[in-house]
Amino acid sequence: MSSLIIKGGASGKIVATVDISGHEDDNLMEFLRSQGIPLASSCLGMGVCEKCVINNDLLSCMYTVAQYIEKTSNQPIEISYI
Ligand code: FES
Repeated sequence: MSSLIIKGGASGKIVATVDISGHEDDNLMEFLRSQGIPLASSCLGMGVCEKCVINNDLLSCMYTVAQYIEKTSNQPIEISYI
């Protein structure tokens, strides 16, 4: 099973581990939101608002799940305000 670990930047805790099986080609932001992770967005994933930022500098709306894993070697996803 492949999974993503979601960590809160504010809490410093792991808040979720989500199974990505069958979702590798999904948009990362939409996938995380579908799993109940409260990622903000006001530009509907157009790469403009920068509210969907993860790991301090990555716009989650600009990656698929697989692209994120390849780019970061599947490091935990940190969301600053959680
Ligand atoms: S949702 Fe606006 S930049 Fe990603």
